[in-house]
Amino acid sequence: MSISPEHREFCASKNLDADGIPQHVAIIMDGNGRWAAERGQQRVFGHMNGVNAVRSAVEAALRSGVRYLTLYAFSTENWSRPKEEVEALMDLLVSTLVKEVSDLEGKGVRLRAMGDLTALPEACQAEINKSIESTKNLDSLDLILALNYSSKWELVEATKQLMKSGLDPDDLEASHIDAHLASAGIPDPELMIRTSGEHRISNFMLWQLAYAEFHFTPVLWPDFGQEDFYDAVRDYQNRDRRFGGLLDTNHTMSKQG
Ligand code: FPP
Repeated sequence: MSISPEHREFCASKNLDADGIPQHVAIIMDGNGRWAAERGQQRVFGHMNGVNAVRSAVEAALRSGVRYLTLYAFSTENWSRPKEEVEALMDLLVSTLVKEVSDLEGKGVRLRAMGDLTALPEACQAEINKSIESTKNLDSLDLILALNYSSKWELVEATKQLMKSGLDPDDLEASHIDAHLASAGIPDPELMIRTSGEHRISNFMLWQLAYAEFHFTPVLWPDFGQEDFYDAVRDYQNRDRRFGGLLDTNHTMSKQG
């Protein structure tokens, strides 16, 4: 993708290397409950305010030139939360899509989902599918919502499909697994961000994050703003990425492993 002078100027103003922007950033949005508790409020209040941070992350991804943004919005484990919280999260998802999708469309954002959507309430599935359909030809940013997603679920599903496909196990390659993941066709994230000071990846894109850089920040998700996103990208740009290979003295990749 060619980089416009405006984009270069924007990156320079944020002290970012315009040629080294990660193509795909994945985020574990964490800390909504604690953010609400700090204010003497119910957890749902934190989720509602988390939507502002989603907006900021989308805006920062668009401005910095990130092409794919994946957000861990609901994990397969989240069903074990109190029923009222699960219902509130589903309602929030629907109301957010209803409110925001035309704005997303205006910005060229293509909405996608990753996970077992069939278990979501019907109203939720309908709204997601409608938003996916209406944005399918847009190409400024792919916003991928991980919904009823977990990596172990995804790997089990991929394995089932491969076992049924009749592929000789001796012919199995990593690319076969890639092609059967929920993220098939989407490049692996180069950067994974987790908010709220937790240092775990919680069953999130275990396969796809094999070579990603991890950025952990103590900021609670509802407080995560555009500047926090650029901080994470700067942190990423300061890492030596080796992919199991060696770096020569000019810090360029000499061998991939
Ligand atoms: C984790 O915080 C957050 C979630 C499980 C839900 C994320 C949902 C949103 C940000 C709002 C809706 C999203 C979209 C895409 C419209 P937590 O509840 O685990 O926080 P805690 O660790 O402090 O308890």
